[in-house]
Order: sequence, then C-alpha cells, then structure tokens
Amino acid sequence: MWWEITLWSSLLAASTAIPSARQRRDSIYSTSSSSVYRAFPYPQLVRFANDECQTESGSAGTCYTYQECEDLKGQIEGECADGYGVCCFLTYQCRETVHHNVSYFVPPSYPNKEVQANVCPLKIAYEANICQIRLDFTRFDILGPKDGDCRDDLFVVMGGNSNHKVPTICGENDNQHIYINVDTVEGPVELQMITGITPYARDWLIKISMIACDSSYKAPVGCVQYLTGITGQLRSFNFYQRDEDRQGYLNGADYAICLRRERDMCTVTYSVRIEKDGPDIESGANDTSRVSSSGTSTESSRDHEHALGTGIFGIATSTSEGKPIELQAAAGLSKCTGDYLAIPGLDRFCGGAFNLNSGSRESQSVTVKNSGPLMILFKSDKAFNGRGFNINYQQGPCTPVVAQAFV
Ligand SMILES: *[C@@H]1O[C@H](CO)[C@@H](O)[C@H](O)[C@H]1NC(C)=O
Ligand SMILES: *[C@@H]1O[C@H](CO)[C@@H](O)[C@H](O)[C@H]1NC(C)=O
Repeated sequence: MWWEITLWSSLLAASTAIPSARQRRDSIYSTSSSSVYRAFPYPQLVRFANDECQTESGSAGTCYTYQECEDLKGQIEGECADGYGVCCFLTYQCRETVHHNVSYFVPPSYPNKEVQANVCPLKIAYEANICQIRLDFTRFDILGPKDGDCRDDLFVVMGGNSNHKVPTICGENDNQHIYINVDTVEGPVELQMITGITPYARDWLIKISMIACDSSYKAPVGCVQYLTGITGQLRSFNFYQRDEDRQGYLNGADYAICLRRERDMCTVTYSVRIEKDGPDIESGANDTSRVSSSGTSTESSRDHEHALGTGIFGIATSTSEGKPIELQAAAGLSKCTGDYLAIPGLDRFCGGAFNLNSGSRESQSVTVKNSGPLMILFKSDKAFNGRGFNINYQQGPCTPVVAQAFV
C-alpha cells in the first residue's frame, strides 16, 4: 500500500543512508503470496507481492524479504519492491522437492554441467488451486536422439493428469516449453532427467511456474505447448541439434501446439522459417551455426537412409512402396499416414517441403481461416525420421482492411 511506503520513505529521509535490502534482517512475516517487511525500530510495515523479478543474471526470481530468501536457500540477486525485497533465485537439484512458484531445476553440480550417467528426479508439490505447471527450458541440452529415439539421455514427466500425455524429450531444446495439467491429481509431479553413459556435458536450467486454476494464463486443456501473440514461432523438439548424427524430431510424438486466438484475429498464416528471417526471436539465438546450413528444398538429403530431409522441413512418411517421401511436399490424409503435422481446417502435411500441393519441392505459406481453437498437431511413429519443423505463424484480422473513401 503506497501510504505505508510513503510513511516509511519520509522516516527514511530523516534518517541516514538507506540500508540495502541485502543487509536488512528485520522481522518479517508472510502470507502465501505476499511478504511483509518491518524495519526496526520503526513500527510501519511494508507489504509487497511475491511477484516475479529479474535476477542479475537475467533469469526469473521471486521477490521475497531477505530472510525469506535465506530460509528458502535461494540466491539473492538484486533488489525488488522498491528495495524492500530481494530478487530471490531458487534452484533445485536431484531428489529435492519444489514448493514455490518460479523455481529452477538445475544439474547436481550447477552451475557445472552434468557429465556422468545419472537418474536425477525432482518433485514438484503444489496447492489445490494449481491447475497447470509450465516448464520453460531456458537451457536444455542433453544428448540427442539416434534416428528419432532417445536412447542415451531422456527427460520424463510423470504424475500429471492421466489424460494429458507429455512427450519424453531429449536433445537440444533451448527456449522450448511444455505444460503439465495437474487439476485431477494431487501430486507431486515428478520430473526425471536421465543421463546415459555416453560422455557428454549436459546442461539444463528449467523454469517451473505454477498456474492457478483461475488464471488467465492457463493453456487450453490438452495443449503441450501454448503460444500467445499475433506472431511467433513453433518448432519440433530437438530442431536446433548441432550434432548432425543426432538431428531429427522425436519418434512417438502425438501432441498439440496451441495458439491463443488474439483479439480481432480470424486467420493464421504458417510458413517455414528460413535463414533470412534472421535470428530466432523467441530464443534470442544469434548463432547461425545452429540453423541448418542447407536452405533450399531442392538440395539432396545428407542421409537418405534416415530421411533427414532438406534441412529446414522434413517429416518423413512412407510411400506405398514403404520408402520415405524425402524431397517433395505431401499433403492429405492418404499421403501423410505415418508422421505428419495436421492443421485443423487445412490438411495434414508431411514430406520434404511444407506445401498444400503434393509433389512440390518448395515450401509455401498456408493460411487457415476456420473458426474454433487454433492448433497444430504433430504425430510421429517409429518407421522413419525427418529433420522436423520450424515454423513462423502470423495471425490476421477478421475483416480485410478496406480503404474508405470519404466524399
Ligand atoms: C507464478 O508466477 C507467475 C509469474 O510471475 C505468475 O504469473 C503466476 O500467477 C504465479 N502463480 C501463482 C499460483 O501464484
Ligand atoms: C548476438 O551477437 C552479438 C555480436 O555478434 C553479441 O554482442 C550479442 O550478445 C549476441 N546476442 C545474443 C542474444 O546471443
């Protein structure tokens, strides 16, 4: 409340230097979503919300009093709430239990990487008012799949709603996210980072956010990923794999990527991301070596056997002869029988280019105009594997903008 702070400020003005929040160890108490700070010897109390704050290292923290952050064994990284609170960075490692919103799952020897074989479980406990847990992979780099199968390392989510399947993930997934629905289970949910014996320096920094049932940020039920905003990007897991032998999407996928239909928006145009689109906005990535070097859909695949396709789009589906469609686009129920992207209101897409016209070797943008929920479904089996998808989307207005002539 501002009057409390005003009182406090005027008292401060009369006193000497303002002590830094880091040095304050005054009496405090807290509720589930706010903290109260009292500076001895003054009777005034300052209550502030436990909101998200930005830490000095650029991650997300939660605004707590100094004492609360110490009690939670968090790292104090800067101040918040006008200096009454500290930005508290909470990290959790194997075999710990997370109880707090905006916490991070990190490797056992964080900030060092995990090089050994290990099974690293983490529990997430939550209150009854929590319906979803969102995991943001700020950093996610574990060994990638071989031919689409996570054979060495894997990340598994256990214990969410039984009707919400979360895919098992491996490989490079910086800036990807997933939702876990937990409204029908008491929890805790368990995450497992399983690292294999093949040597590799694994790194992960996974942000855990709890979403209340009445929150407007809740994703529609059944969506593993949920994107908001008029424009954005979506891509298959492991798309930015640097190791050519471990490229390709993950087999056994069957999930929905949903978009929020933004206000006054009636259409969505999807197009394959190409290098000239510039660095990834979502990931902030700058490193062009992460983007596949081949940019054209006529270039032949590096590895026909695995049908990794043409570098920027490749969803391997078998032809009637049992061979994968590699270079050409395919669309439709009869052609895309194995692995495919399905866009409700349009079609199924597979092959080596993203195009409604089967046989084309060029990718094309496609626009969906139907009403109803906006989503892309991705399904993959174990028969063939491909490069994956990395797609821009752009929502468009409901009525064409018509220049009006005034007389
Ligand atoms: C968790 O933190 C996020 C980000 O600050 C916030 O939007 C959300 O409401 C919080 N959840 C709960 C249950 O307080
Ligand atoms: C992008 O590259 C520039 C210079 O090459 C560098 O200064 C900047 O930090 C990079 N940004 C990111 C997000 O990596």
